[in-house]
Amino acid sequence: MKAFIVAAPGSAEQLVLRDISIPRPGPGEVLVRVKAISINPVDVKSRAGKGLYGRLKELDPLILGWDISGEVIQSESTEFAAGDEVFGMVNFPGHGQAYAEYVVAPAAHLARKPANITHAEAAASTLAALTAWQALVDHAKVKAGDRVLIHAASGGVGHFAVQLAKHLGAVVTGTSSSRNRGFVNGLGADRHIDYQTQDFRDATGKTDFVLDAIGGENAERSLDCIRPGGTLISIPSGLSEELTALAKSRQIDAYFFLVKSDGGQMQQIARLLQEGILKAHVFKTYPFDELPEAHEELEKGRTVGKIVVLL
Ligand SMILES: NC(=O)c1ccc[n+]([C@@H]2O[C@H](COP(=O)([O-])OP(=O)(O)OC[C@H]3O[C@@H](n4cnc5c(N)ncnc54)[C@H](OP(=O)(O)O)[C@@H]3O)[C@@H](O)[C@H]2O)c1
Repeated sequence: MKAFIVAAPGSAEQLVLRDISIPRPGPGEVLVRVKAISINPVDVKSRAGKGLYGRLKELDPLILGWDISGEVIQSESTEFAAGDEVFGMVNFPGHGQAYAEYVVAPAAHLARKPANITHAEAAASTLAALTAWQALVDHAKVKAGDRVLIHAASGGVGHFAVQLAKHLGAVVTGTSSSRNRGFVNGLGADRHIDYQTQDFRDATGKTDFVLDAIGGENAERSLDCIRPGGTLISIPSGLSEELTALAKSRQIDAYFFLVKSDGGQMQQIARLLQEGILKAHVFKTYPFDELPEAHEELEKGRTVGKIVVLL
């Protein structure tokens, strides 16, 4: 089968197409013929020698990618049978090996693909959707009436987070540039802030929860608009000791978490996709042999929703 391996940490040119053997599923696993793969900032960071590269660098071959949708070809699990269409985030934060024509996945990381969405939409609704789910539902426990601020509301995580927060009954503000105002409002946001012309601290009252997908100074400034007892989750990287101490002094719970594969949560996401409560926005698609170009597009930082590679 064809797979993209990381020849060395660096630019997208280091993603090299190779012929390797089709992997074999072990107990509790399935072999999936991949129909669509979604690309995330962590893919790009890891390819460049950051992100998860440190954890994975001893692996040979190192195959990046975690988000797939496809068809089960062989099942060694009781959950799925050959012919089932499935999607999920495979082995995150481990070796996903999703940049390939066939992927072995633990059945416990997958859910059935809803029949009313495409493989591209399903692949798009994995790492980003799970991150939104784990942030809002597991960690922040967002409930009806909560005031929620979602940064980068037009991005992969943000566009799911806005929809999910609305579904949970929150009052939602989303930030993006003015270019994506219509998109963010269309997701159901109650308010939009253009971060290029407005200081979000002036434009929001005290909020219960902020999801920060930008990091650095944006995380620090976010503390100014959270009420005592509220929560800041910043997902790009760990928070500095100074910021954590500042948050604590204001009785704000501020932290970073790393999303984890979870088939049970994928099933909940599948149900919301089936019911039309969640919808993936596929910004651009690329054929498999142009996967490096998909990396270059994501690196521009202007993605609206998700970038997907089709097989
Ligand atoms: N910890 C975890 O488990 C976890 C999980 C998923 C993602 N992440 C991290 O979270 C970050 C976001 O991921 P993503 O997939 O959502 O990224 P993404 O899709 O690449 O985000 C792109 C979006 O960000 C918006 N944006 C850029 N700068 C902004 C700013 N200063 N304020 C508001 N919006 C801004 C852009 O809108 P405009 O074009 O309008 O500016 C664009 O639509 C990445 O660092 C990623 O690695 C972490």
